[in-house]
Amino acid sequence: MPEFPYSRLRRWPDVEADNLQAYDATDLLLVDRALALAAERGIDGSQIAVIGDEYGAITLALTDAGMRGIRVHQDLATGRRALTRNATELGIDGFAAHELDAALLDGARVVLLQLPKALAELEEIADAVARWAAPDPVLVAGGRVKHMTLAQNEALGRSFGVVQAQRAERKSRLIVASEPREVPVALPFPVTAQHEGLTLVAHGGAFAGARLDIGTRVLLDVLGGSRGGASQTPWRVIDLGCGTGALAVSYALAHPEAEVIATDRSAAAVASARATAAANGVDERVTVTHDDAGSELPDGWADVVMLNPPFHLGTSIHSGAATRLFEAAARLLRPGGELFTVFNSSLGYRAELTRIVGDTEQLHRTPKFTVTRSIRR
Ligand SMILES: C[S@@+](CC[C@H](N)C(=O)[O-])C[C@H]1O[C@@H](n2cnc3c(N)ncnc32)[C@H](O)[C@@H]1O
Repeated sequence: MPEFPYSRLRRWPDVEADNLQAYDATDLLLVDRALALAAERGIDGSQIAVIGDEYGAITLALTDAGMRGIRVHQDLATGRRALTRNATELGIDGFAAHELDAALLDGARVVLLQLPKALAELEEIADAVARWAAPDPVLVAGGRVKHMTLAQNEALGRSFGVVQAQRAERKSRLIVASEPREVPVALPFPVTAQHEGLTLVAHGGAFAGARLDIGTRVLLDVLGGSRGGASQTPWRVIDLGCGTGALAVSYALAHPEAEVIATDRSAAAVASARATAAANGVDERVTVTHDDAGSELPDGWADVVMLNPPFHLGTSIHSGAATRLFEAAARLLRPGGELFTVFNSSLGYRAELTRIVGDTEQLHRTPKFTVTRSIRR
């Protein structure tokens, strides 16, 4: 059989660059291991679930190798779109997308996982596999060696009796977990925490969990003081990259007349924000959407956008993620609308915000965080 054309996969609509690929050595290891397990145990595609397939490499390579009926869960809206597009480009079908739920895992005997960054996310996934997969599942989790920690083995060990790390290959490593433990009756996620009049609800993959992030708190304090800062009452407000929905729900609680949209590219964030809105009794006024940088929302809709962009230092890719959200804010705001941004003071986003959105002033600065207001030109 010809080699699967991995190099034809694209990351789009995620950030693309010459040094970024749409697959990695972990994907290749997971695919090889899945094919070996399938042959050994007589497993067909309908008994395989894939979790965290970034741009579809695992699902598409296995489907292409004849494994029909694979179920796949991807957290990010960008990853889901990339998989769909890659499948169309390569003319591959015969797999099904699911949320992280019983339908994804029911009857699955092999579960392939690209290890997530957050431990809580791994715990939620491990519990889901132990809870909903076939009675004898093998969970094969893989990652880049430099990103792997023993805490991940321990997290897997809370749901599985046997956890075995494999030899590293091509700077990646697989961990094989089997013999699921008995699961608690209650689902371990989402978790809930109270914060002075605000209840936050968080799935494992949501930024900051049920904690209120310090940057978010600084932005909320500034917004509370300026009441949105607008010369007229802002009616239409977007929480761009909403995480658990702390900003959106706080705004809705403080402004009963406002129409609020919270949007995030992570499904875990979206589920958390919906649960947060419901827990605070504002789910009728806060709409939560799973989308990439608000791409499905109309241009010029918003009077106010609130933004706590992903915080990553250093590489061009990562500042690319914040830039995309600045561009989205510029598109979503009406002329004269306001963007409130909180960011790590070391990042100095002010010039970029001025260039992309419009005049930008600093409203508040602590040693760690800066809050700015940009007026859409
Ligand atoms: C620093 S967190 C802030 C979460 C929340 N607003 C808060 O203040 O607690 C950044 C959020 O942006 C989301 N995000 C990153 N890139 C995105 C994109 N292109 N489209 C939508 N959301 C994105 C992440 O999933 C994450 O939830």
